[in-house]
Amino acid sequence: MKAIQYSEHGPADVMHYIDLPDPVAAPGQILVKIEAASVTPFDWKLRTGYLQNHFTLPMPSVPGRDAGGTVIAAGDGVTEFKVGDRVAVMAGVFTQGGYAEMIAADEKHAVAIPDKLSTVEAVALTNAGLSAWIALRTAEVKSADKVLVHAGAGAVGGLLVQLCRHLGADVTATCRSTNRDYVLGLGANRIVAYDLEDFSEALKDQDLVFDLMGGEVHDKSYKVLKKGGHLVWLVADPIKDRSAEFGVTVTRAMVSDDKSVLQSVMDLAGAGVLKPQVAHTMPLSEAAEAHRLMEEGAISRGRLMLTM
Ligand SMILES: NC(=O)c1ccc[n+]([C@@H]2O[C@H](COP(=O)([O-])OP(=O)(O)OC[C@H]3O[C@@H](n4cnc5c(N)ncnc54)[C@H](OP(=O)(O)O)[C@@H]3O)[C@@H](O)[C@H]2O)c1
Repeated sequence: MKAIQYSEHGPADVMHYIDLPDPVAAPGQILVKIEAASVTPFDWKLRTGYLQNHFTLPMPSVPGRDAGGTVIAAGDGVTEFKVGDRVAVMAGVFTQGGYAEMIAADEKHAVAIPDKLSTVEAVALTNAGLSAWIALRTAEVKSADKVLVHAGAGAVGGLLVQLCRHLGADVTATCRSTNRDYVLGLGANRIVAYDLEDFSEALKDQDLVFDLMGGEVHDKSYKVLKKGGHLVWLVADPIKDRSAEFGVTVTRAMVSDDKSVLQSVMDLAGAGVLKPQVAHTMPLSEAAEAHRLMEEGAISRGRLMLTM
């Protein structure tokens, strides 16, 4: 099969489009012919070596935290899926990733794709959906909560906007001014355009803030929370915890692969409640260029997808 692989950390050029032996489904695994995989910020941060303190990657490595396609073989003991089923797969950090034409995945790391979704749409919801849902669960969002979602035009932020509105929250999102209508269309009640306004001057008394940016955005977010408010963050960089100073709670959302969460995401999308966000698709062979675009911040309005 064709796959993207790198043998050392470094710039996007360390990724090569190569031939690898086809994987085989072990007992309890399905073999999936991949149609699409997401390109996530995690993928390029892992590739550069930026996350080496958190993850010691086995080399060589095939990147990609998710994938979707059609089951072409099932190992002994597989009960949930059969050949021909369309599935979305959560790919491990330490095993083969989604940037390939095939993947052997544990049955417990896959869910069926609802008929109403294309495979590309379902994969765009996979890692982003897990992240958004776990952040939402961490925050315990309630109806009428005043919620600020940073990076509302991003893959995770856009899903958080939709999920918070679905729960009846009053949602403000930050995004660049050109994405205002897009993020309002996802369900935000109001927008603060980060290229025109300082959100920490424009907002106050929020019950919850989702920080998907870190750094200065994290630091300023304390100021817009009411006393007793909750700041939930999910970035790799360390934060300066100012919770005691502001009388708020700060919690890191611990994102992990969870089949029941992914199933819930797919159910909501299948029911038309969650709208998948696909920014752009590129062929697998152009993965290095896809990483460059992500690193430059050139991707907006959802996931950049690789198709096989
Ligand atoms: N810990 C975890 O397990 C975990 C899981 C998922 C994600 N994350 C992290 O969460 C972050 C978002 O992930 P993602 O997949 O949603 O990324 P993404 O799709 O690349 O979105 C990034 C977004 O950031 C926005 N942005 C840039 N500067 C901003 C600012 N100053 N204020 C507000 N928004 C700004 C951009 O908005 P515009 O397009 O409007 O400019 C862009 O849409 C990443 O840092 C990622 O590493 C962590």
